[in-house]
Amino acid sequence: MVKLGIFFDKLRFEEKSLYETAIKIGIEVNLIDSKNVILNTDYLTNNNLDYGDVILQRSISYFRGQFLTNCLELLGYKVINNSKIGEICGNKLLTSMILKRNNVPTPKSFFSFNADSAFNIVNQQDLKNNPLVFKPVIGSWGRGVFPVRNKEVGKMIVEMRQESSSPFSNIYYFQELIKRPPRDIRCIVIGEQVVAAIYRYSSSDEWRTNVSRGGKAEMIKITSELENIAIKAAKAVGIGILGVDMMEDEQHGLLVHEINNTVEFRGASSATSIDIAKLMIDYIKDIQKI
Ligand SMILES: Nc1ncnc2c1ncn2[C@@H]1O[C@H](COP(=O)(O)OP(=O)(O)O)[C@@H](O)[C@H]1O
Ligand SMILES: [Mg+2]
Repeated sequence: MVKLGIFFDKLRFEEKSLYETAIKIGIEVNLIDSKNVILNTDYLTNNNLDYGDVILQRSISYFRGQFLTNCLELLGYKVINNSKIGEICGNKLLTSMILKRNNVPTPKSFFSFNADSAFNIVNQQDLKNNPLVFKPVIGSWGRGVFPVRNKEVGKMIVEMRQESSSPFSNIYYFQELIKRPPRDIRCIVIGEQVVAAIYRYSSSDEWRTNVSRGGKAEMIKITSELENIAIKAAKAVGIGILGVDMMEDEQHGLLVHEINNTVEFRGASSATSIDIAKLMIDYIKDIQKI
């Protein structure tokens, strides 16, 4: 019998609904905890792992998910999303470059690869009139994302990173701070279709709009403008199961700032009453003909 393998490292609302939905429609599902996986090179010549006919990669940890997807692909598995999409979406620098390369409206972003150069970015910018946002290139849930409205904060970030032993401490990513309402937009894009879209309003004591930080979800109409930008963005990183996030810039309209590879859809499901998990499983089923 044909099987779907779901890799996870934490069972959130999303993984549970994907699992339950697949079971409900009669698909055999193998739920695999990525943390317990052990692989070796002999599997390349004798693949008796039997993870499934198609794999849904839902690991939260960027590195765990990415390394595992690389292995699974080399072992001959079809993985959704594939490793190329994972690499781009998990890395904010690559995402920004690839969006812009493909003419997807996106905020202007600055990169540097050394502390002195990062000081130069902060010093050259008129932060009072054009503030920046600092972001770790790899990260989620808004962790470490904060506005830089003056030189002191900018310098503090660079100094703190100089103390860090992380291999990423010399990779700096700043983005223009977008003048937006206290919300952003999350579009769930499956294949070449925007299946749901919501506003995410930040909570009263929070600037970031992530639902994981108390952001509130509200259904919005999928306009053709929203749809066109979301699909263009999805095509730029690779078609799969994605969360395309946008901000509404006072001056420039919709700007895509992030594309999520293992998209969370708890907020979108409850705000829209759309069975997003079912649409995802149907998409995988269609691809795989299971
Ligand atoms: N350039 C920006 N201007 C204004 N707000 C921003 C900007 N970038 C991010 N934010 C806010 O911070 C949140 C987290 O940033 P994001 O780039 O999505 O990182 P993460 O991957 O951690 O969610 C966004 O959802 C948005 O509310
Ligand atoms: Mg985000």
